[in-house]
Amino acid sequence: MELAGKVALVTGSARGIGRAIAAALARKGANVVINYAHSESEARKTEEMCRSYGVETLVIKADVSKRDEVRRMIDEIIGKFGRIDIIINNAGILGKSKNPIDVTDEEWDAVMNVNLKGAFIVIQEALRYMKKGKIVNIASIAGKDGGTVGPHYAASKGGLIAMTFNLARHLAPDILVNAVAPGPVDTDMINDELREKLRPLSLTGEIAKPEEIAHAVIFLLENDHITGEVVDVNGGRLMD
Ligand SMILES: NC(=O)c1ccc[n+]([C@@H]2O[C@H](COP(=O)([O-])OP(=O)(O)OC[C@H]3O[C@@H](n4cnc5c(N)ncnc54)[C@H](OP(=O)(O)O)[C@@H]3O)[C@@H](O)[C@H]2O)c1
Repeated sequence: MELAGKVALVTGSARGIGRAIAAALARKGANVVINYAHSESEARKTEEMCRSYGVETLVIKADVSKRDEVRRMIDEIIGKFGRIDIIINNAGILGKSKNPIDVTDEEWDAVMNVNLKGAFIVIQEALRYMKKGKIVNIASIAGKDGGTVGPHYAASKGGLIAMTFNLARHLAPDILVNAVAPGPVDTDMINDELREKLRPLSLTGEIAKPEEIAHAVIFLLENDHITGEVVDVNGGRLMD
């Protein structure tokens, strides 16, 4: 798919991987909707980066776990652009606890509601208008091998992968649905301790840069014969 002139929503694009995806889309000429929940000034910085490529942008505050906010966001996108062609479900939270015994009901629900239900709500609300296009869900290596963080995070990302497969079947051939499953990426999500612990686990001996994840997203968007696929970007960690 040619990306120039398309309208792309990137959830959670104020910072980190979402920002890199938004910038990569803008570099390809797509008009970008930048979504955030808390970080307005960071979202404005992402917008500036995108605008430097000469595309149109829209910044929208919406918590993806709340249906009324997502519905309003989608309606605002349609109001401005009249269409939506690309959804990147990137918004995500890690949760505080790693040890299963420490995970409270509230923490479980918060992680599932943003990472899994939020992605579904965004897709469902967008499908009121989106009849053709591409969806990419940002999963995680934790959704495939359990990861090194909490069980709720792993479950949310495993669920996101399963949902990707399901929606790929339901929405083909008009909408292609794929996922990217990163290993650790250098963003605010991982602290220095985790970064140093995880670095040696990849065959590249490195933590990924957000731009490497954005690159995989662009590949999936530009290719018109891949659906129901999960692209691993983890420095070869799943080979062992
Ligand atoms: N970093 C990694 O090692 C890694 C590895 C594998 C997968 N991932 C996945 O990659 C995605 C991006 O992670 P990241 O590393 O870029 O994390 P990050 O730097 O912490 O950024 C998370 C982004 O999600 C947004 N967000 C959080 N809750 C939201 C909500 N309820 N509604 C809308 N936006 C929300 C945040 O916006 P606000 O600041 O406005 O809340 C922020 O822009 C996540 O899905 C994450 O699970 C990350």
